[in-house]
Amino acid sequence: MPEVLWLSEKQVTSLDISMADVIDAVEKGWRLKGEGKVEMPAKIGIHPRKDCYIHAMPCWIGGEVDTCGLKWVSGFPQNIKKHMPYNIGLFILTDSDDGHMKAVMDANWLTTWRTGAASGVIAKYLGPEAPSTLAIIGAGTQGRINIRAMMSVYPGMKTVKVYDVMPNQVATLKEQMGTLFPTLEVVGAQDVQSACADADIVISCAPVLEKPVRTVRSEWLKKDVLCIAVDHDSTFDADIMTGARAYVVDDRGQYAYMQGGGVYFQGYPSERELYAEMSEVVVGKKPRVREGRRGAAPMGIACNDVIVGKMVYERAMAKKLGTWVNP
Ligand SMILES: NC(=O)c1ccc[n+]([C@@H]2O[C@H](COP(=O)([O-])OP(=O)(O)OC[C@H]3O[C@@H](n4cnc5c(N)ncnc54)[C@H](O)[C@@H]3O)[C@@H](O)[C@H]2O)c1
Repeated sequence: MPEVLWLSEKQVTSLDISMADVIDAVEKGWRLKGEGKVEMPAKIGIHPRKDCYIHAMPCWIGGEVDTCGLKWVSGFPQNIKKHMPYNIGLFILTDSDDGHMKAVMDANWLTTWRTGAASGVIAKYLGPEAPSTLAIIGAGTQGRINIRAMMSVYPGMKTVKVYDVMPNQVATLKEQMGTLFPTLEVVGAQDVQSACADADIVISCAPVLEKPVRTVRSEWLKKDVLCIAVDHDSTFDADIMTGARAYVVDDRGQYAYMQGGGVYFQGYPSERELYAEMSEVVVGKKPRVREGRRGAAPMGIACNDVIVGKMVYERAMAKKLGTWVNP
């Protein structure tokens, strides 16, 4: 049996892969998905504690990528109190020819970056041409990486307004983003309404809750706005999505499965009412929409993990990074 490459979080992070490269990879995965070359069942989950999840996410991307993988990832909102990440996971890269396990890697960098990159691809296709103001609700890991994704797509973004229930999270974000993007004005907002006012793009990155108290109201938003819900249906009022000119998700099957479970996306548009899933927009089956209110709920799909996980593996191999272990 071939040996398996183990890659720790530190090793994966040390590869220093750029956001532009991750955005390109996620976009390519969605193109192949739109061409019918991806096999990806809806992710399944278990929920051992309130508001937490542990998901199993398999996928085969065919075509020129021809790679399989599986992510086992947890999401625990209370981890912030333990100074632990919200999401913790492992990703297994699997050979498509004989099914052997090529690599097992820590999936924290992977989950964080491919999620930011998914927002980046959505902005490329549904975002305004030249936005000046971004709003972020929830200033944790996702809040920060989503700013990095937007700055990759829109280097000329002038201002980001950030709201979080924990002021120290906003302070940390301001410090980190201020260093990374000296031209970006980072403003801590007093409340959700003032964060959203005048924003061309609003991205919600708060905890996913089984019984959400949705805090963003449609009347606070500009007429032309892109709303990206990284936290499922936890932050945007349902009428923001039901009244959107275009409401998209990252996978129709995943959306139908989750909404059909009776917990998430209640009151949101049904699968039949979607404008598209993003892969359909990327391959041009559905036109880009750049005006009016656009909504997106990228739930996080295994297609993104497999294509980015493959890139991590290839970069690590090129640098002879990682530890070979016997299966
Ligand atoms: N869609 C995807 O693919 C995907 C992938 C990874 C994570 N997520 C989701 O992103 C969300 C954020 O994850 P994270 O890693 O940034 O977590 P995190 O714990 O690092 O940050 C969450 C932040 O939200 C803040 N917060 C809590 N309640 C809030 C409220 N009502 N309003 C505003 N802010 C609030 C917290 O203080 C914290 O700063 C989670 O819901 C997670 O499940 C989605």
